[in-house]
Amino acid sequence: MKRPDKKNIVIFASGSGSNAQRLLEHFEHHPEIRVAALFSNNPKAYALKRAETYHVPALLFSRDEFYNSEKVLEQVKSFHPDLIVLAGFLWLVPQNFLHTFPNKIINIHPALLPRYGGKGMHGINVHTAVVQAGDKQSGITIHHVNAEYDKGEFILQEYCPVLPEDTPEELAARVLQLEHKHLPEVVEKLLLEKDEL
Ligand code: GRF
Repeated sequence: MKRPDKKNIVIFASGSGSNAQRLLEHFEHHPEIRVAALFSNNPKAYALKRAETYHVPALLFSRDEFYNSEKVLEQVKSFHPDLIVLAGFLWLVPQNFLHTFPNKIINIHPALLPRYGGKGMHGINVHTAVVQAGDKQSGITIHHVNAEYDKGEFILQEYCPVLPEDTPEELAARVLQLEHKHLPEVVEKLLLEKDEL
């Protein structure tokens, strides 16, 4: 009997792509799920190289193509995504994507939303704000994506301590470990447990 085709993940990443790497590793030999493509807005994104290493198509696009044409949408559609994962992707997702893939786009954010989210709250800025506020804990939020930065419905939050002597970089490393642990698990669970996300 013919096996049903695998479910497809499409990743969007703007930078280093260590979370993308975790997805590429985790699903490389998975019987039911594959990473079908990685898209980036940044020609210098190391994430593109990571995809190529796993023989996953790596596609670069411009701001104009993303916001003023259907080109990127059509390219993404050609990979038949069951889930689109924003893994360190810094641009707001346009309406045509939200309409075409309702409930199928998720993001990982390196803090406990709704605090420390929104425009400009990415990378080390997030961890600097958490350390400066004197918070005792931080963590990650994996959430659905809507038309506003970091505002969609939560899927998972996980916590880690902020130590009194932490620098933003030390906190960032601790939070990144949490991201690497949970992102592949959440993606797998979403794809295997629900036919329609
Ligand atoms: C991660 O902290 C992620 O939560 C955030 O951007 C960072 C990306 O790291 N959205 P990497 O590119 O996956 O290494």
